[in-house]
Amino acid sequence: MTILRPATPDDAPQLAALGKRTFVQTFVEGFGIPYPPEDLAAYLATAFEPGPVLETLLDPKEMWWAAEDQGRILAFAHVGSARLPHPDLTPEHSELKRLYVDRDAQGLGLGRALLETALEWMDAHTTGPEWIGVWSGNLKAQRLYAHYGFEKAGEYDYPVGRWLDHEFILRRG
Ligand SMILES: CC(C)(COP(=O)(O)OP(=O)(O)OC[C@H]1O[C@@H](n2cnc3c(N)ncnc32)[C@H](O)[C@@H]1OP(=O)(O)O)[C@@H](O)C(=O)NCCC(=O)NCCS
Repeated sequence: MTILRPATPDDAPQLAALGKRTFVQTFVEGFGIPYPPEDLAAYLATAFEPGPVLETLLDPKEMWWAAEDQGRILAFAHVGSARLPHPDLTPEHSELKRLYVDRDAQGLGLGRALLETALEWMDAHTTGPEWIGVWSGNLKAQRLYAHYGFEKAGEYDYPVGRWLDHEFILRRG
């Protein structure tokens, strides 16, 4: 049975591995973004190693939730202080930093369930609008966020090493 629960520091290795795998499967293998190998390697090393993941798990201003089935983490959501480049945004606002579902668990409702959990927490614990940065070509994720009231509020370039991904800034509220 799959349960949704807050993630703990012990989850850092699994969350890092799932994050790295899902990023590569989605953006490199799926969408075919031609990241130069050294930029991809530099990005994965900062974003998806257990050390950096553990740091944010220990930060009281950051929240992580995991969908777990018998010890295996199938999906996670990560919320933190908003950092996107938009003139209305302040660090007191919250941002959905990542919502990742393992490939064989996609399409089963885990993304929606984790997003609902994250949004409930954001509504209860932070004030002001809620924010998400999403790759401009990721229509599936954009449809999901639109369903929960997020609207496009801007665009920016998200660095993956020295490569820049064109992203949309989404806002709710
Ligand atoms: C995008 C993602 C979070 C959605 O989570 P999920 O668990 O697969 O999706 P759910 O089963 O909760 O379904 C959510 C919606 O997506 C739709 N959907 C699910 N799988 C789909 C697919 N393969 N193709 C198109 N739409 C799909 C569902 O029909 C549902 O639509 P609805 O809200 O109109 O009913 C997940 O697929 C994922 O992690 N993808 C890879 C990483 C990623 O892109 N993350 C978002 C980055 S910002």
